[in-house]
Amino acid sequence: MVLLCGGAGFIGSHMAKRLRDLGERHVILDSFEKGHRPAAGGSPVVEADLRDRESIRRALTTFPIEVVIHFAGSIQVGESVRQPAEYWENNFVGTLNLLEAMREAGLSKLVFSSTAAVYGEPEVVPIPEDHPKKPTSPYGETKFAVEMALSAYERAYGLRSIALRYFNAAGSDPDGVFGEDHDPETHLIPAAILSAMGKTAPMQIFGTDYPTLDGTCVRDYVHVMDLAEAHRLAVRALRDGAPSNQYNLGNGQGFSVREVLQMVQEVTGLVIPHSEGPRRDGDPAVLVASSEKIRAELGWSPQYPDLGSMVSHAWNWRRAHPDGYRS
Ligand code: UFG
Repeated sequence: MVLLCGGAGFIGSHMAKRLRDLGERHVILDSFEKGHRPAAGGSPVVEADLRDRESIRRALTTFPIEVVIHFAGSIQVGESVRQPAEYWENNFVGTLNLLEAMREAGLSKLVFSSTAAVYGEPEVVPIPEDHPKKPTSPYGETKFAVEMALSAYERAYGLRSIALRYFNAAGSDPDGVFGEDHDPETHLIPAAILSAMGKTAPMQIFGTDYPTLDGTCVRDYVHVMDLAEAHRLAVRALRDGAPSNQYNLGNGQGFSVREVLQMVQEVTGLVIPHSEGPRRDGDPAVLVASSEKIRAELGWSPQYPDLGSMVSHAWNWRRAHPDGYRS
């Protein structure tokens, strides 16, 4: 049985859907601080917080868990610069609690949600996994610290892990049932959609003086269902005895903030009210992945590599759920 920590969040809920579709036994562990109850989609749920080690222990002993996928955590780059303690607590201490509970329960397989933010400002683009790690935000630091802890746990206890370094997760379930719903919404595509729908104040472009083609940040967007598939492949590799590893997940193509807004405008047919503002703390100018390693080693092949599909799936969900999961 698979345990999904943070399984009621954006990426976790899409993974849970994938596991339900595959008929694979699983249970969601979520504190529901940021996760949404409808996002659990009928999967069994344990309400627990990773900051409470005892509650994780209980979950691991109540269910016959064999592999853990850990999505839970705080995820905003800019916020992490302003509130570093929350990030160290949720992302690092919370994960350490999970690792300790896994060790006590004799569990040895973990898939971990890492991030492109571990690299910082790239020296080479597209970024390979062995690129130097110089995170520019506490968010990236906490995720990289967990990756280091994972190496130590493998050496000391034989706990094998696959860290998946997502670039920019986007899109939503193509069936339109699950989607992206953060409060407040800070991610570019949903923020642009909400701004276009008049659900929020006009959005801002954070920084127009970056050394990029049009002065705005460039990111590599990857569809959430393609991320879910990568987790399935990672679980399979661990079950087959693969040693610990780290993989990037992106499409190898960068889009500037202005290009993304243009795409949102094309897909929705709406104008996006926006202004231009200063840079957001912690944002590197360009993040584009080389995902050759996971393609070659685990056979990952994205089904929705084009930005248009990501934006239209996100738009379909939001149009049907104008108030997110509260709709
Ligand atoms: N942006 C704006 N205006 C907004 C929101 C975003 O201009 O209202 C810009 C950001 O400055 C950034 C780009 O759009 O340049 C993408 O921003 P997101 O907040 O959508 O995504 P991030 O690149 O900051 O972060 C995402 C994930 C992190 C992950 C990171 C890796 O949220 O979990 O990618 O860089 F670590």
